Amino acid sequence: MAIFTSTTQNIPPTAAVPRHVAIIMDGNGRWAKKRFMPRVAGHHRGVETVRDTVRHCLERGIEYLTLFAFSSENWRRPEEEVTLLMQLFVHALQKEVAKLHRNGVRLRVVGDLSRFDPHLQSLIQASEASTAENSRLTLTIAANYGGRWDILQAVNRMAQAQPAKLGNWTEADLAPWLSMSYAPEPDLFIRTGGEERVSNFLLWQLAYTEFYFTDTLWPEFDATAFDAAIVSYQQRERRFGRTSEQLQGAAEAGAPVSPNGTSADA
Ligand code: IPE
Ligand code: IPE
Ligand code: MG
Repeated sequence: MAIFTSTTQNIPPTAAVPRHVAIIMDGNGRWAKKRFMPRVAGHHRGVETVRDTVRHCLERGIEYLTLFAFSSENWRRPEEEVTLLMQLFVHALQKEVAKLHRNGVRLRVVGDLSRFDPHLQSLIQASEASTAENSRLTLTIAANYGGRWDILQAVNRMAQAQPAKLGNWTEADLAPWLSMSYAPEPDLFIRTGGEERVSNFLLWQLAYTEFYFTDTLWPEFDATAFDAAIVSYQQRERRFGRTSEQLQGAAEAGAPVSPNGTSADA
């Protein structure tokens, strides 16, 4: 299992194209309501946006795409909407996985899957297994996912694995137990639909992620809208705690900046 740099322990390499993009796909219901359609019509249209977004990531060379599909709090929705969302998930897996595989996409699903019906659980397992060797793009679907759930399940598993270290656990001890330990931390977080909140998404992993909020509703989030988010990302200065002067000094010297924040050849 690949262990990636923690943004709080080391300064990760950064590039013009974000390596990992994490998206809260919000606004399906409002998109449908505007059209006097049932909310589920918005979810159907949202699946098409997922397809376009995956294609765009492949074209742009983004290596990790993580999509928030169903939060641990979304069970609070009306029962018929929850049921329809589950059916849509099953349907999308059945329909799309072969194509994902042909395009070199590795599929992962993170979240507390134990609450899903056994048929969906085995479909997820089979989809992950059939795409496990792909490496062009890792597509993660967060389903019945909550950032607090993730941290707690990781702490519990770490405590079971290393009980004697109680009181001395480190970030490095915890990291391998987090549900996305196979991916670097997100470079860019996007939330569509106008709300500016995290809604219990990747709480641990977003420590140094750049945030981008747009009023565009998820069903309308097209390639142009995605590119606008990437352009915004490219204009950010990612300091990871350092000063702007440190970054500029290193750039002028043509030297990479070392993990302790000074120019590497200083
Ligand atoms: C996001 O769209 C999809 C899920 C949460 C499953 P919403 O269903 O939250 O759409 P709005 O926010 O009501 O418009
Ligand atoms: C966040 O959207 C979860 C997903 C997109 C899956 P919500 O629509 O559930 O978030 P809140 O309730 O507005 O915070
Ligand atoms: Mg919403």
